Amino acid sequence: MDSFEQKANQAKEVLDLKRSQSVLGGGEKRQKAQHERGKMTARERLTYLLDPGSFQELDAFATHDCRDFGMDQKSFLGDGVVTGYGTIDGKLVYVFSQDFTVFGGSLSAMMAKKICKVQDLPLQNRAPIIGVNDSGGARIQEGVASLGGYADIFYRNVQASGVIPQISLIMGPCAGGAVYSPAITDFVVMVDQTSHMFITGPEVIKTVTGEEVTFEELGGSVTHTRDSGVADMRFSSEAEAITGLKRMLKYLPSSNRSGPSAAESAAETTTDPVKGGEIGQIIPANPNQPYQAKTLIEAVVDEGSFFEVKEHFAKNIVVGFAHLGGTSVGVVANNPGALAGVLDIDAAIKAARFVRFCDAFDIPLVTFVDVPGFLPGTDQESGGIIRHGAKLLYPYCEATVPKLTVNVRKAYGGAYDVMSSKHIGTDLNLAWPNAEIAVMGAAGACNIIFRKEIASAKDQEGKRKELVDGYVEKFANPYI
Ligand code: HXC
Repeated sequence: MDSFEQKANQAKEVLDLKRSQSVLGGGEKRQKAQHERGKMTARERLTYLLDPGSFQELDAFATHDCRDFGMDQKSFLGDGVVTGYGTIDGKLVYVFSQDFTVFGGSLSAMMAKKICKVQDLPLQNRAPIIGVNDSGGARIQEGVASLGGYADIFYRNVQASGVIPQISLIMGPCAGGAVYSPAITDFVVMVDQTSHMFITGPEVIKTVTGEEVTFEELGGSVTHTRDSGVADMRFSSEAEAITGLKRMLKYLPSSNRSGPSAAESAAETTTDPVKGGEIGQIIPANPNQPYQAKTLIEAVVDEGSFFEVKEHFAKNIVVGFAHLGGTSVGVVANNPGALAGVLDIDAAIKAARFVRFCDAFDIPLVTFVDVPGFLPGTDQESGGIIRHGAKLLYPYCEATVPKLTVNVRKAYGGAYDVMSSKHIGTDLNLAWPNAEIAVMGAAGACNIIFRKEIASAKDQEGKRKELVDGYVEKFANPYI
């Protein structure tokens, strides 16, 4: 072996050693602790997420350059995040996966640099980015360098918004600065019991306000999918969360220039011409009788294709992706099965963000309208229903994707206008035969416009019924 060969062998040995060290993260003991909590390691998550053999890692040997607090003695190859690209069902995606075994997955300036690189690359190459978050927030030892790193990430999140899909998996603590990046991505997926999001943890809260609260109550998956609306989906295990994310990805294009994605198999594209009868049975003739909008959606879209988003938040409106005749569509439906399908602050915010996402990514919108109006009351007014309700009007007016609307039962008041009405640029508006479009319901309307007539009648109830029947006959149908 000559000296060149010897040198080449040594170089290879150094590389192999670095490679074997870099996969150890914070060491076996911390990885074991991670498993004991029912969590996968950063690399296991990527293995589960990406097509076998497709992962190409970047910057595996990077380390932090902090010299304070004894940090020069502590460093791990990769510095607490695994970054790179690979494919999911053959589709290119960029990924980062924070490693809780290295300084609690906290964000150093180097980690930020690595994440920024896998934010820049998909923006250049027009591919989705998926972030796996498991982090104690800003790396305390690094101070402002870490805070600056967060700002670099947020800036890129915003530049990428509406250009490439950005999805966040929350798979552990997500504290402090770690929550803001997921919050401005398109979809946030959480895992029951093991993932938590909060800007300040229970200990800080106790010190500042005296309030005692558990991790789960403060920032668990139920809190964020049901109450705050921060997260879009929750699953009972990491494996299920990753499977759910992969399912959603099938409906999304790679970027705003790719056009709507199509269903994979011909079986999914079959449309059943006898569904009209089925729909007639789902929608009760009595306008006050509830039904679940999801049942209606599932009867219309390609079989088994409906994928609901934000299922547990603002249940009075249902949003999600589906295939219709084999093409991805975004579906929005008032849900008479919850709060009579009324529009309130949360419903408006939920639907607005979804409509805007679909518009940005060229996904046609299908809207099912069955809405008694905006929810009246002091809570809603003081909470700002006027400005939040307007948030839903804006993206519907602005959307340039194909928009289809079906008025299935009632459309009253301002909610009629907002819910993808003809007037705000919808391409095709259809009405079911018993659809009603009016300023308000017949009883309420007659109490106002015929108040004097009813009051002066001998038989007030008889008069009221006569007037209501007349109003229903004139207005409560789609023919006008
Ligand atoms: C440096 C950190 C860290 C951090 C955790 N670690 N958080 N190191 N910076 N922010 C380290 C711990 O020292 C420990 O190291 C290891 O990670 C695991 O942490 P534990 O506390 O042992 O784990 P656990 O009991 O599971 O608790 C996890 C945790 C807790 C809930 C995340 O560590 C925690 O509360 N961390 C601080 C969270 C926080 O307040 N972050 C906000 C930072 S301010 P060893 O060596 O023992 O394994 C911020 C503002 C940014 O982010 C704003 C930008 C806009």
